[in-house]
Amino acid sequence: MKYKGIIFDLDGVICFTDEYHYLAWKALADRLGIYFDRQINNRLRGVSRMASLEIILENSPISYSQQEKEAFAAEKNEMYRKMLLNMSEDDLSQEVRDTLVELRKRGYLLAIGSSSRNTRTILGQIGLGDFFDAISDGTNITHSKPDPEVFLKAAEFIDQKPQDCLVVEDASSGAEAAFRGGFDCAGIGEASHDIHTTYPLEHFSDLLTILE
Ligand code: BG6
Ligand code: MG
Repeated sequence: MKYKGIIFDLDGVICFTDEYHYLAWKALADRLGIYFDRQINNRLRGVSRMASLEIILENSPISYSQQEKEAFAAEKNEMYRKMLLNMSEDDLSQEVRDTLVELRKRGYLLAIGSSSRNTRTILGQIGLGDFFDAISDGTNITHSKPDPEVFLKAAEFIDQKPQDCLVVEDASSGAEAAFRGGFDCAGIGEASHDIHTTYPLEHFSDLLTILE
């Protein structure tokens, strides 16, 4: 086997919470009178909560203190977490579920590498709370993607070197993070045509062909 471990990004790869992120940020931006649309929301993929807020505040004529920014991020997160309660096992597609089970059967170590501090809540909602061999997320890093820290930690948690792991990503920031950490990257969606992507995927299940 060319790889021993596979490190999956969560949002946009295993499941989709972008709409909830969008709605929660939009509610905050509207309250503050700041212009925000889906195109700006696309720039938030893979980016940490505070870094996302900074992107939104680029359109604000007012500059806010660190304390105010932390309160805004907490306000958005509270709205977002309420929306996460709507998620269930139905938010995990049959394709993703079957592919993960098959990869486990083939003997790969499976880990999560996500910038989200809500990773464990989301995995619990979609019925994957106990599935992965390791979880590296926004709670154990100080630098968010495109910094490779979250993937390096994931590799460490499954006792593997970066060159023995494949990262699966949908965001350009994540594909760059994989590259900077010395990982090969399978890219889906936006990341499928990123310069840092080793294997472009049309479908999640294409992983089964790459990892034969
Ligand atoms: C990533 C998302 O998974 O998590 C980003 O792609 C999000 O859009 C980031 O900003 C942080 O999420 P959270 O749950 O910690 O606010
Ligand atoms: Mg993602």
